Amino acid sequence: MCGIVGYVGSRQAVPLLLEGLRRLEYRGYDSAGVAVVRDGLHLVRRVGPVANLAKAVAVEPPGGTGIGHTRWATHGVVAEPNAHPHLDSTSRIAVVHNAIIENHAAILALLEQEGIQFRSETDTEVLPHLIRKFYQGDPVEAVRAALLLVQGTYGIAVAFADHPDVLIAARNGSPLVLGKGEGETFLASDPQALAGHARQVMYLEDREIVLITAEAWDITRLDGVRITHALEELATELVWSGKGSYAHHMLKEIHEQPESLRRCLSGRVVLDQGGAKLGGLDLPPSEIANITRVGLLGCGTSFHASLVGAAAMENLARIPAFAEVASEFRHRNPVIDQGALFLAVSQSGETADTLGAIREVQLKGGRVMGVVNSVGSSIARTCGHGVYVHSGPEIAVASTKAFTSQVAALLVAGLMFGRTRILGLHEGQSFGRELLGVPELVERYLDAPGAIDAAAELVSGGKYVFFFGRGVSHAVAMEGALKLKEVAYVPCMSYPAAEMKHGPIALIDANTPVVAVVPDDTMRDKTLSNVQEVKARGARIIIVHTEGDVYAAALADVSIPVPRTHSSLISPLVTVLPLQLIAYRAGIMLDRDIDRPRNLAKSVTVE
Ligand code: M6R
Repeated sequence: MCGIVGYVGSRQAVPLLLEGLRRLEYRGYDSAGVAVVRDGLHLVRRVGPVANLAKAVAVEPPGGTGIGHTRWATHGVVAEPNAHPHLDSTSRIAVVHNAIIENHAAILALLEQEGIQFRSETDTEVLPHLIRKFYQGDPVEAVRAALLLVQGTYGIAVAFADHPDVLIAARNGSPLVLGKGEGETFLASDPQALAGHARQVMYLEDREIVLITAEAWDITRLDGVRITHALEELATELVWSGKGSYAHHMLKEIHEQPESLRRCLSGRVVLDQGGAKLGGLDLPPSEIANITRVGLLGCGTSFHASLVGAAAMENLARIPAFAEVASEFRHRNPVIDQGALFLAVSQSGETADTLGAIREVQLKGGRVMGVVNSVGSSIARTCGHGVYVHSGPEIAVASTKAFTSQVAALLVAGLMFGRTRILGLHEGQSFGRELLGVPELVERYLDAPGAIDAAAELVSGGKYVFFFGRGVSHAVAMEGALKLKEVAYVPCMSYPAAEMKHGPIALIDANTPVVAVVPDDTMRDKTLSNVQEVKARGARIIIVHTEGDVYAAALADVSIPVPRTHSSLISPLVTVLPLQLIAYRAGIMLDRDIDRPRNLAKSVTVE
């Protein structure tokens, strides 16, 4: 979603701001802009890719202080006047903003009564005008006074024509990180933009304002109290990674899965004890034994991984568990049982819906830990405890390697809790051994993925596509359907296989593509009966099945064998792979923008 960059130093700001904005492109956006200070404010904004903006600023506005932004439209259509930065009416103050000012309508009405004319449809534009209203020479105090009137969430950066050597930034619920260079300071909403420029960074906390110069920064809380934060090393994983020899980030990330899974599992399964060690979830055995239930909260792909995680908690540890879409959780006034443990699952660590759910748990005195990919992200910091899944930076909007790493981390957590509660040494060892063997299975499958193109042709020609599976394979079916919607824009539905006959089967007619996920587990025979039911009505069937299952293969129009896993809980780590590849190939066949599908953002920072 929206991205912020800022620079104060002696170098030309524009090339650095553009580089930062390019690194934020993966988050999804529809317009971009920069404002640079030197003898006034120079503003350039363009709809479309950062490349359009780069062309427009070919004659660089001079200046060593500037702010930049990529906008993902929320309030107001995609148009240049709605792109950031926004200016006050004297064009002496420029603001970029992430997230949403909830009381913008009230502030706008107040400012209009005072004669201010608005030039955009955005919620953001109230900020430069409000800051101007309070500006009496001190930029920090003007921003503070303005923000005291604001309700909602924000990460903002403000440039003042009167103060060419400083930037002001502030956050409430939307991340900002500062990076220290040699005689220069960088600002960004995502540490990915700082890689290569700053080794040491400082994360701003909610309701804090910072005055930034080339040499230093000065932080105060909104209530005026001065504070300091320690510098942190920028995570080494944040090395800017290109596409390598792959045509798209998505394909590269699919093929990185053997390695990302190795990283996730490394050092965490303790074979001689038949258990596991997850540093961030290091609850004493007596506490693990007393957990009354586990609630897993996430959105999109992270929700699908959570469904597998809940099954792992119940089956390996016999702890009652549920997974819930984070965006719904806090709005139903959930009961937070003090013995419960909540796990917030997120790739980006910035998803506003998931952050909202975490705060709900915390507000009610509950325990919540993160299962997060992005090191230092808001969710990791808000939870304080948890595990990193270590899949490495995921750039494609469609999540692939993060899903398998999330599932793997949750299976390790299930093993750890299970061994403390009910699993015997040998059961724990055999599960742990199988888990450690998964990266090799994934590698073997990806080397010879089977009839992906035939499956992709079938689904890309369909009016709509059904995905189904049972148990954890239903979570995989949901994930496969989400991938195909996102990457190929093909309408899809996913159902637990047996539900088909309770209504959805009415939609099946000759040639409707159906993708069935049927590993050789206890649900296999029943799922294959459900396959027969749709086949009898003319559906064209793609079956993802365990290699050697000749009966399943013979039922399918397109059969895709995957390596055998003995525990059905582990099967999602292999059955999801062909579904990722089918979505990718269907997207290519339909000429879609694979890495940046329309309307989507990598990091969904608004509710
Ligand atoms: O960063 P998160 O894991 O919290 O993101 C949650 C969803 O927005 C995300 O999984 C989304 O559904 C992906 N685009 C799926 O490919």
